[in-house]
Amino acid sequence: MPQTQTQVQSNATAKSRNSNTDQGVFFYDYNIEETDQREEILTGLQQQRKNISAKYFYDERGSQLFEAITGLPEYYPTRTEISLLKQFQNEIAQEAGTQAVLVEYGSGASTKIRLLLEALRPQAYVPMDISKDFLYDCAIQLRKEFPWLEIHATCLDYRERARLPHRLSPNAKKVAFFPGSSLGNFAPADALLFLKGVRETVGENGALLIGVDLQKDVDELEAAYNDVQGVTAEFNLNVLRHLNQLGNGNFNVEHFHHYAFYNAEHHRIEMRLVSELDQMASIFGERILFKKGEHIVTEYSYKFKASDFMEFVRGAGFCGKHYWHDAEEKFGLFWLEAMESD
Ligand code: AVI
Repeated sequence: MPQTQTQVQSNATAKSRNSNTDQGVFFYDYNIEETDQREEILTGLQQQRKNISAKYFYDERGSQLFEAITGLPEYYPTRTEISLLKQFQNEIAQEAGTQAVLVEYGSGASTKIRLLLEALRPQAYVPMDISKDFLYDCAIQLRKEFPWLEIHATCLDYRERARLPHRLSPNAKKVAFFPGSSLGNFAPADALLFLKGVRETVGENGALLIGVDLQKDVDELEAAYNDVQGVTAEFNLNVLRHLNQLGNGNFNVEHFHHYAFYNAEHHRIEMRLVSELDQMASIFGERILFKKGEHIVTEYSYKFKASDFMEFVRGAGFCGKHYWHDAEEKFGLFWLEAMESD
């Protein structure tokens, strides 16, 4: 079924008709094609190397746990990126110019963009997220805080395919924003495809501001995914609860434990759930057998080297213009410009 742009048609947007606060907020629902969750989950669990897509972390509880992770002392990426955004906001604004269209991939609560809005003064902000009601509520709240800002909240799964609303001025410079090192959760081939998609979306004179986590001391990396309070372990185990709920499953969370380590060969943190005993679980009416010690891969989080990253993005049609980082080079913020396509 072709995706269609439906402005003010969902239940969430119906609210907008009765409210004065949301003039200047436009809502687009690009009829996301539901992925076949049963097929996707069972295929992953029936592999020789069992895996669950990291997207299943984010039910309501998972999103809360991730929020808690971002404030943990061991999890340096969020606070480091926030301080970089604050520190370099003027340089970023200079590159973006005034009147840019600012497009955020996976905008969530639009927390980080708040740090840039006053400096950037874009002509429009396009938050893109899959979570419809949350996206709408966040857009309304943002408009209250920035009454001058035109917001085009766009509901879609940006991992599948991003698209911009037609209403936007076609000649405006488009600046994409993809913070949080979320690119690290893609396998390299998928990361390249994703960046190619962003390049297509921003067009000839567009740019991408992206935050990525950098390679560093193994102990520091491993500590970030093995916090002493056990929040990351809880986040990881929660995926089984989410699966139980989606597929009428009976995974016993107490019979698995969290395991995260740095795979130096592939430059990635690997998160796993390890079975504590020989056991059987059922989900979507299918039986899944585990041997004691067998694991499910739940997430890869790739860590980058700045020079390699600059080279990598060229394959997607971007050229690195700025590389901003903290004193210890824990985290990098890159300003990438679209190269002319031939
Ligand atoms: C969302 N993503 C960038 C996080 C990361 O660090 O890869 C997810 C996460 N997993 C465990 N802790 C945080």
